[in-house]
Amino acid sequence: MEQASWVPSSVDLDRPSAARMYDYFLGGSHNFAVDREAAKSVEQIFPGMSGAARANRSFLRRAVRYLLAQGIDQFLDLGSGIPTVGNVHEIAQQTNPGARVVYADVEPVAVAHSTALLADNPLAGAIQADLRDPDSVLGNEEVRSMLDFDRPIGLLMVAVLHFVPDADEPHEAIARYREVLAPGSHVAISHASWDGVSQEERESGERVNAIYRKTDSPLVLRSGPEIAAFFTGLEVVEPGVVPLSEWHPDSDDAYISAYAGVGRKA
Ligand SMILES: C[S@@+](CC[C@H](N)C(=O)[O-])C[C@H]1O[C@@H](n2cnc3c(N)ncnc32)[C@H](O)[C@@H]1O
Repeated sequence: MEQASWVPSSVDLDRPSAARMYDYFLGGSHNFAVDREAAKSVEQIFPGMSGAARANRSFLRRAVRYLLAQGIDQFLDLGSGIPTVGNVHEIAQQTNPGARVVYADVEPVAVAHSTALLADNPLAGAIQADLRDPDSVLGNEEVRSMLDFDRPIGLLMVAVLHFVPDADEPHEAIARYREVLAPGSHVAISHASWDGVSQEERESGERVNAIYRKTDSPLVLRSGPEIAAFFTGLEVVEPGVVPLSEWHPDSDDAYISAYAGVGRKA
């Protein structure tokens, strides 16, 4: 059994985690045998998973740059994952060295690594929090001290809402975040979808779901209109809630069955 010094004691090494499987898809090293086994089973069904994960990271980068261009200099990244190439604070602070970032994730390995990475960065921090509980996120001391809610914030929920089933009331959570954000704040979302997926691929997708059900994060793929509904109450910026690769494209990323968009609070 692996038990490296960086493994928080709360980690269950017998259970795969979506965060660590995603780290594996991106070529990271912060995953365990149980994660690699689950991730490889997903890859056997969907060989394009690594390309899809990279395409999603590419959207994250494009969205953060877009928000910086709108003058956003503080970010709250919900479901931020295990740090990897092109983290939000790196992208943001390259353009604006004074940019502030708080990362939040439920997964202890993701939080431990983010915290370690940010030890020397006074303008960025990481907390362990569940986005389904907005009051605990918004009331968190680090969030309150790092971010100024009287000024616009970039709220990121990238590749995370497809881990939140309707029963957990994602719309209510998003409404709560929207409510406390200052006008001019922006919300960026990417979300995996079944749209355009063949019946055969859907059946394969069911097998992928079965793998994710072993984690704490069962997958909930939604349709384009369902994903667009997450932007209720926001002005969706051009080009709208669109297939992820069509949102301000700047590179030749792999096709990914997902939608992405950015909404602005008026
Ligand atoms: C696919 S990764 C995406 C990471 C990063 N946002 C990106 O796009 O590269 C999804 C992350 O969401 C986290 N997550 C899942 N459900 C969550 C929840 N309810 N609250 C906070 N984080 C969550 C997982 O632990 C994982 O790190």
